[in-house]
Amino acid sequence: MWIRRRQPGDSAAIVASEITSEATYLNRRALLQAALAAGVTGIGAAMWSDSEAAAAALKFTRNARFSTNEPPNSYEDITGYNNFYEFGTDKSDPAANSGRFKPEPWSVTIAGEAEQTGKFSLEDILKPHALEERVYRLRCVEAWSMVIPWVGVPLADVLQRFKPTSKARYVAFKTVLRPEEMPGQRYNVLEWPYVEGLRIDEAMNPLSLLAVGVYGKSLPNQNGAPLRLVTPWKYGFKGIKSIVEIRFTEKQPPTSWNISAPREYGFFANVNPNVDHPRWSQARERHIGAGLFNSRVPTRMFNGYEQEVASLYRGMDLAKYY
Ligand code: MTE
Repeated sequence: MWIRRRQPGDSAAIVASEITSEATYLNRRALLQAALAAGVTGIGAAMWSDSEAAAAALKFTRNARFSTNEPPNSYEDITGYNNFYEFGTDKSDPAANSGRFKPEPWSVTIAGEAEQTGKFSLEDILKPHALEERVYRLRCVEAWSMVIPWVGVPLADVLQRFKPTSKARYVAFKTVLRPEEMPGQRYNVLEWPYVEGLRIDEAMNPLSLLAVGVYGKSLPNQNGAPLRLVTPWKYGFKGIKSIVEIRFTEKQPPTSWNISAPREYGFFANVNPNVDHPRWSQARERHIGAGLFNSRVPTRMFNGYEQEVASLYRGMDLAKYY
């Protein structure tokens, strides 16, 4: 991604941590296991290494309809090579620097144009919903890709519960601000906290997922614990991590990468091989883990999810609304 180099005089804002005031909370992992509907575990326990044993196994049902048949990347690729600038700008930084981050207890503020708003524990948010596993393709704007078996709940199901009003035309998301646990937030590489947004029909599309796990286990810190967004037809940067606020809005909300470099990163961020990034082509992608010689494959419109999402953008000029 484009990085604004730290300027002399830039200050590292230290802000009070977001500590939930929930008086009673139950252990996230215990609750996830207990409260979520019984399902089948898709991946055998024999695959887990010792380091993964710390993450809790989740109960889920595999959603075959919304899963690609392509083989998933390894747990090591998915958890060891990614972007989470709150922990640093190198691909290995999130795994290396997220050990001190505390994803529990956790609460999410629901705000804006909805009948029900307020601060809810993660358990309250998740309790009514059954977890699904969905194997999605991830296409990063930097022209690399992966296949990731997420576990989560459809975003639409969660949003509907709060009864958005007719004024809710967009949904804005915010990441937690904790510079004391997230060393990258002490540098002005982006404006903190990280923010993202979707148009309401995009948020309600059945592909949009609020993920709580990967490879059948709760999310590791570096992948956005305990709750993150996944929209597989969009570039990876829309997948905001460690979400603490979901706000229904009438106006299009600001988004972190658009604030940082508006010419390069638009609000929609749909994967589109025909619209290049100003500094590189988006026609092909390097599939992580595919080996050096056959790793560059053509990028597909909407990352291969054209059938599910093309209707959202009918009549729109996708070169203008990039
Ligand atoms: N969310 C936050 N809060 N901060 C970030 O820096 N990076 C984004 C996105 N979500 C980012 C974020 C980018 S650029 C990508 S490619 C994805 O997370 C990658 O993470 P994943 O591989 O875990 O999906």
